[in-house]
Amino acid sequence: MMKIAFVVLLFLTATGCQVSRQTEDYKLRTISDITLTPTNHQHGYARRECFLCHNPANIHLNNRLNSPLFDLAKPLVDQSGETSCAGCHGSNGVSQ
Ligand code: HEC
Ligand code: HEC
Repeated sequence: MMKIAFVVLLFLTATGCQVSRQTEDYKLRTISDITLTPTNHQHGYARRECFLCHNPANIHLNNRLNSPLFDLAKPLVDQSGETSCAGCHGSNGVSQ
């Protein structure tokens, strides 16, 4: 009985806890890719509740595009949440 509980615990630790914190990576190539369109944002276009799908703790962690906007992203998101996104990513097909 103890052995089974241990195995279950081990499984939960190995899977559950680790997957919650992941860096998001969509293989963006140029700065124009951050502007959301129906093509590059098929699964999230025309939605305004960004944090439903993008955990704020997992985005803007890697400066892959080397854009000067990058350093502003975290402070602005911390300060203004979902209302900040449109400033850099466009309207996402939603009227403010
Ligand atoms: C229903 C889930 C969902 C919502 C809501 C959502 N997204 Fe996304 N987002 C995704 C997925 C999935 C991708 C990966 C590209 C795809 O498959 O659409 C993505 C990709 C992105 C990307 C990378 C774009 C690229 O060129 O690949 C950015 C930036 C982004 N989302 C920002 C936002 C912002 C800002 C909002 C809110 C205005 C938002 N997302 C709302 C699911 C969502
Ligand atoms: C000051 C500009 C700025 C603001 C504000 C901003 N972003 Fe970003 N975002 C960027 C830049 C620049 C990148 C590209 C980072 C890279 O890969 O170099 C990016 C990348 C992303 C990505 C792709 C994954 C990643 O981490 O690279 C997602 C998803 C995303 N942003 C979502 C959001 C959401 C949701 C908001 C609002 C809560 C937001 N962003 C606000 C500038 C911004």
